[in-house]
Amino acid sequence: MDKILIRGGKVLKGEIPISGAKNAALPLMIAALLTEEPLTLSNVPRLADVALLQRILRELGAHTTLLGRKAGESPFAGDVVRIHAEEITNITAPYELVSRMRASFWVIGPLLARCGQARVSLPGGCAIGTRPVDLYLKALSAMGAEIDIEQGYVVAKAPEKGLQGARIVFPKVSVGATHVTMMAAALARGETVIENAAREPEVADLARCLKAMGAKIEGEGTSTIHIEGVTALHGADHAVLPDRIETGTYAMAIAMTGGEGTLTHTRPDFLDAFLEVMEEAGVTITLDETRMHVKSNGGLKPVSVETQPYPGFPTDLQAQIMALMTMADGVSVIRETIFENRFMHVQELARLGADISLSGDTAQVRGVNELIGAPVMATDLRASVSLVIAGLAARGTTELNRVYHLDRGFEALEHKLAAVGADIERVRG
Ligand code: UD1
Repeated sequence: MDKILIRGGKVLKGEIPISGAKNAALPLMIAALLTEEPLTLSNVPRLADVALLQRILRELGAHTTLLGRKAGESPFAGDVVRIHAEEITNITAPYELVSRMRASFWVIGPLLARCGQARVSLPGGCAIGTRPVDLYLKALSAMGAEIDIEQGYVVAKAPEKGLQGARIVFPKVSVGATHVTMMAAALARGETVIENAAREPEVADLARCLKAMGAKIEGEGTSTIHIEGVTALHGADHAVLPDRIETGTYAMAIAMTGGEGTLTHTRPDFLDAFLEVMEEAGVTITLDETRMHVKSNGGLKPVSVETQPYPGFPTDLQAQIMALMTMADGVSVIRETIFENRFMHVQELARLGADISLSGDTAQVRGVNELIGAPVMATDLRASVSLVIAGLAARGTTELNRVYHLDRGFEALEHKLAAVGADIERVRG
């Protein structure tokens, strides 16, 4: 298994190009199942999750073609991926694949809407809590689907005339349940209204793509989405939006090392809540439409953070802000309200010398003067990148094991960081 070695203490300086968003690319690729015509996506990040999803889509009968990046573009420009689901030959998404990536469960929406039936494995356990699928199933039932659980699989059947639009009020904000309901409703009969919908930019990006495919959707990006079903969708070209989580992560990596740098090809306007926290931490950030300039002012001030659905502070940046605060001048309070058990990084950060105490959903982080490199273990995607941030500032060498978690969500992480001065290398194993 690969490892990443980081010799800490280098000050990061320079530009880091931001890739397309993993959390937008995945639902967009799944949306290709809704039409017989090809969907061509550009700015697709090169990630293990994207490759795995291509495999799953192929299982279902789609042809996927990786067209690489456009000629003359920088090595960090994303890929063009063409997905053509002319015919769906299989309505089963198997356990071996769905259990490796929870988002692949989302194929249930398009399969049910287009084929009238779906057999999709329950995603199973996950390092960041139980993560149930009850909201998805309630929404699909409200649209007339009959749902049974058989041997670990959700077996769903649409009524003979197809799914029927419905008013769906989610008791809790769920990104995945909003994606799935929107995709299913795009091909249902009549109108669907989603109340308490997720407002994440990735949800709005999926809606934009569905509209380019001929769907009738209004209200994306707000908590009420209206979808008027159509009988068929067609092909389209769509560019995946930039990754706001990667942007925030590298902003914190730069700040952690006392550095100064610019994140390019991004959308800083998706990061308002994060930017407020960085200001509280004493980091100077200036923006234009596609770039974010980050400048450390020496020390870091402690912050108080509570994760919330968008537009609040993202849970996917919680581990990273905790790593940043391990060296702040005072006590920070970080509360996780989205996922239970999303504090797996705490014990690993402690191995580097961080002083963190946990009580229920809240962590208190007492800033220390110095972190010291050690072997640590990646436990999930965002937790593992928090260890990279800490390792960049730690004295000596940090050895990060189980790097495959990082490869799921951060494209060319070691190359991007080395290009701005980090002493970081991957050891193949
Ligand atoms: C997506 C993101 C993930 C991010 C999360 C929250 C992708 C591929 N993943 O995950 O990176 O951390 O949004 O911003 O886009 N819930 C239920 N029942 C359900 C569904 C969800 O109780 O049927 C709960 C979850 O357990 C969690 C909360 O709702 O507590 C939010 O989860 P959700 O927004 O659905 O997360 P994902 O879509 O899985």
